[in-house]
Amino acid sequence: RLDRIPHPPRRLPFLGDVIGADRRTPLQDSLRYARQLGPIFRRKAFGKEFVFVWGADLVADMADESRFAKHVGLGIANLRPVAGDGLFTAYNHEPNWQLAHDVLAPGFSREAMAGYHPMMLAVAERLTDHWDRELAAGRSVDVPGDMTKLTLETIARTGFGHDFGSFERDRPHPFVTSMVGTLSYAQRLNSVPGPLAPLLLRTATRRNEADIAYLNRTVDDMVRTRRTTNGGDGDLLDRMLETTHPETGERLSAENVRRQVITFLVAGHETTSGSLSFALHYLARHPDVAARARAEIDQIWGDAEVPGYEQIAKLRYVRRVLDESLRLWPTAPAYAREATRDTELAGVHPVRRGAWALILTPMLHRDPEVWGADAEEFDPDRFDAKAVRSRAPHTFKPFGTGARACIGRQFALHEATLVLGLLLRRYELRPDPAYRLRVAERLTLMPEGLRLHLDRRTPSG
Ligand code: HEM
Repeated sequence: RLDRIPHPPRRLPFLGDVIGADRRTPLQDSLRYARQLGPIFRRKAFGKEFVFVWGADLVADMADESRFAKHVGLGIANLRPVAGDGLFTAYNHEPNWQLAHDVLAPGFSREAMAGYHPMMLAVAERLTDHWDRELAAGRSVDVPGDMTKLTLETIARTGFGHDFGSFERDRPHPFVTSMVGTLSYAQRLNSVPGPLAPLLLRTATRRNEADIAYLNRTVDDMVRTRRTTNGGDGDLLDRMLETTHPETGERLSAENVRRQVITFLVAGHETTSGSLSFALHYLARHPDVAARARAEIDQIWGDAEVPGYEQIAKLRYVRRVLDESLRLWPTAPAYAREATRDTELAGVHPVRRGAWALILTPMLHRDPEVWGADAEEFDPDRFDAKAVRSRAPHTFKPFGTGARACIGRQFALHEATLVLGLLLRRYELRPDPAYRLRVAERLTLMPEGLRLHLDRRTPSG
């Protein structure tokens, strides 16, 4: 029953709700509609109608796994040619989801994280070497570009024993260019009528096919190299190639391994780099917050040259900075849920089995009823223990929900907290006063054109 759900007032025949819409910023357009239309609304494009949900009680109801589950639709469905039945894009009923989930979950345990820690540090040091050089040359730093280098190297090295050499290159690695190409194409497919896509996007489609072929080749080379060497000390690729399911004894097929490697290389770095970039933007704009974070880092790390694994989780305030950045700009900004049986949403909207809606997390995270009248302001204290306890469940969902929530959450949080710690300890961050936050969309979110000036700081000083 859609008639109770509001939609934008001015609809065009066939095209639908396109007035004022920009195909480069579908998410930010939806946020604008959300503000006008309220906690549940619909948008129509080329005859297809999509429902968006962000009110806290509605989102909480859709987190009920006995009535709702992940829906693979829109942008994620468009990534199926790239990632197939890999963990992120698999349909719930595909047997490879459970198999890969069970085989790979131990790769994200606490022990596994402690094992990745030294390599994460080594990659972060490449970043600080690079920033030291930029500082010495009197240059500002390219935050999203450098965070992308860092997070790509981190997942490639910890997960797959592979070195893309990102910090030795002036331009992004071709893997990144192809990945950005496929993500942007998947987003663009949503903005043209399906049957006309091959015609309207002919050149883009050809480029997309070349991008996918490049991703496949890169990954196939990585797997071939691993098969001819001694393995990677039980890293993710070893798990994908060697581990059998504890109960069924099954193993991932070669084709599925390819899908998983692409999935992890992409999902494992793109969103983390965006989160780090937003956090650095806010830290540069809020020197009081940066000073508090530095005091915590100095206190917990003491004189240690480099932090140990245990010292990362103790950076409670740095972690709050990260959470608060993920609140305002959750870098995977929506996820879709479908009804697994006929039901009623929040006791109000009848929903048929299979019907689905997109959860708009940036709006959920700014709902004034949950976050207060100052919900648009950056304030890490929203995540102090008392405030978190007093909030209803399912009001902060940057990593999705339920069985299909992010498997890499702890990985991302450990990596990002460690990197923010190292950067704050080493540098003062100065914003460019003329910069206004612009958010680029390619299914994920990234602050566009963000550059910061650095000053070297003496530890504890
Ligand atoms: C799933 C966000 C980092 C791997 C998800 C989902 C979200 C998300 C919202 C659920 C998508 C849906 O319901 O359709 C994020 C954010 C990250 C992050 C904001 C960083 C700040 C990572 C990392 C990895 C990773 C570091 C791997 C190392 C995955 C995978 C899935 C997933 C494989 C699919 C899980 C499944 O369906 O079984 N992520 N993610 N993510 N993420 Fe992340």
